[in-house]
Amino acid sequence: MTTTGAKPVGADDETSAANAVRQMFNSIAPRYDLLNHVLSANVDRLWWRRTARRFRPILANPDAAVLDICCGTGDMTMALLKHRPQNARPVLAADFARAMLRRGARKFQGRGAVALEADALHLPLRPASQDLIVSAFGFRNLANYEAGLREFHRVLKPGGQLGILDFSEPGGLIGKAYAIYFRRVLPAIGRMICGPVSGDKPGPYHYLPASVGNFPSPPAMLEMMQSAGYVDCAWQPYTFGIAGLYTAARPR
Ligand SMILES: C[S@@+](CC[C@H](N)C(=O)[O-])C[C@H]1O[C@@H](n2cnc3c(N)ncnc32)[C@H](O)[C@@H]1O
Repeated sequence: MTTTGAKPVGADDETSAANAVRQMFNSIAPRYDLLNHVLSANVDRLWWRRTARRFRPILANPDAAVLDICCGTGDMTMALLKHRPQNARPVLAADFARAMLRRGARKFQGRGAVALEADALHLPLRPASQDLIVSAFGFRNLANYEAGLREFHRVLKPGGQLGILDFSEPGGLIGKAYAIYFRRVLPAIGRMICGPVSGDKPGPYHYLPASVGNFPSPPAMLEMMQSAGYVDCAWQPYTFGIAGLYTAARPR
């Protein structure tokens, strides 16, 4: 596995990869929620809820410092907020694409979360300050996965927990059917919702399957998490392994 991070077409280093990802999400922000729900037939809602439930014990602690990184338009944040008690410390919801974050803030601002424009690889947070970091469908887009894991490790408290929800590529017959959907049907629907792309850029609906294909398999990802210093690393497949939740903790 030689993958170090997301590789949008035309990006040949980490800075240009991050810029391309930010630009792409800023450009699809107005259609992002619709695109998401149509392409996943609303199953994404179940995945966010299931992820939030997994961290209920931490979320129930009103003093817990919780970061939703790569929060985008805020649906993961909203699922986390369902488990926060009244008057709990606000959840930090961070993203580096302003147009995505602005839409998220409209949903969660005043409901227990605050928006933070920040890069996941350079978080403006103190070391050992967070009890929980969650990222839904964002980690796969980082320009350097190892650097992302190291940065999360830096800001997690000893004993703090990490949850990374992202797509994966299932095997067997389900995998074959899914590959057809993902590589053929999904780009066609994406094009209908987002419209044609100008210039020679392949567009967000091509980036998504390519980014999932480029993402480490669960065993490789777990190995990377262990190498970055995490313990209790595990992967829980969701919906036949189309998506799944990685969990890990910073050692005490
Ligand atoms: C597919 S969206 C997921 C949004 C949301 N978490 C959800 O589940 O719908 C990925 C998000 O990750 C953000 N992102 C990608 N790389 C990032 C980085 N280095 N720092 C902060 N945000 C990043 C993008 O701007 C985008 O909003």
